[in-house]
Amino acid sequence: MRKKIVAGNWKMNLSIQEGANLIDTVCAQMPTLKEHQQVVFCAPYTHLHNAHLSLQKASKNNTFLGAQNCNPNASGAYTGEISIGMLKECGVSNVIIGHSERRQYFNESNEFLKQKTDALLAQNMQVIFCCGEPLEIREAGTQNDYVAKQLQESLFHVTADQLQQQVVIAYEPIWAIGTGVTASTQQAQDMHFFIRSLLASTYGAEVAANITILYGGSCNASNAAELFSCTDVDGGLIGGAALKPETFLPIIEAMA
Ligand code: 13P
Repeated sequence: MRKKIVAGNWKMNLSIQEGANLIDTVCAQMPTLKEHQQVVFCAPYTHLHNAHLSLQKASKNNTFLGAQNCNPNASGAYTGEISIGMLKECGVSNVIIGHSERRQYFNESNEFLKQKTDALLAQNMQVIFCCGEPLEIREAGTQNDYVAKQLQESLFHVTADQLQQQVVIAYEPIWAIGTGVTASTQQAQDMHFFIRSLLASTYGAEVAANITILYGGSCNASNAAELFSCTDVDGGLIGGAALKPETFLPIIEAMA
C-alpha cells in the first residue's frame, strides 16, 4: 500500500514558541497513525532544532520534521543558504523542493532543482518534489505539458528504487495556493492521474502505483476528505491550514 501523507508547510510563519506549541498540540490530539500514514511538519530553519525536540518529546510514530528548501552544495561560500548536512544535524528527514514560491520569487530553474534532487537522494533524505502550473497555463489548457516538463527535467533521471524509497510528488496548482480557490476534485484527480500515467510510462506501472502524490492549494478542513477520496490523491501539502491545530488536525483525520 502506498504511503498517505499530510505535510504542513509553515512557509515564513510562526514564532519558535508558536511552532513548538503547534507540534505539541497536534501530536497530543491526533489519531494514532497507521503504518502507511505519515505527518510531516515543514518548519522555517530557525525552528528546526526546537521542533525536533518537540517531536522527540511527543514520541508519536510516523511523524517527521521537514525543511522548506536546501542548497545542493555540501558547504562553502553560499551566503544565506543552508546545506543538507546542516538540516540533518537539526533532525530534518524530509525536504520540500521546487515549491512554486521558490521557482517564482527566487528564480529556481529545473536544472537547479535537479541538482537539489540528486544532493538530497545522495544524503538519504526524503524529497517532497513540488510541481504545478500558473493560471495562464491552466487557462490555455496546457497544464499537462507544463507539469510533465517540470518532472522530466528535474526528477525523472533518478532510479526507480530512489523514486520509490525517497520521493513524494506534490501537485500544487499555483492559482490555488493561498487564494482560497481549490482545484475541483475532478481537476485534482485528472492531474494526479496524468502524473501517475507519466510515472508509468517512464518507470512502469508497478513503480507508478507505489508513488505518493500529494495535492496542495487551499486544502483545508472542509475539502480535505473529498480531495483525499480521489483515487490518485494520497494526501496533502498544506499551507495556511497547517498553522493552527484546529485547522490542521481535521486534515490529518481526513487521511483515514
Ligand atoms: P495554501 O494551503 O495556503 O494554499 O498553500 C499551499 C502550499 O503552497 C503548500 O505548500
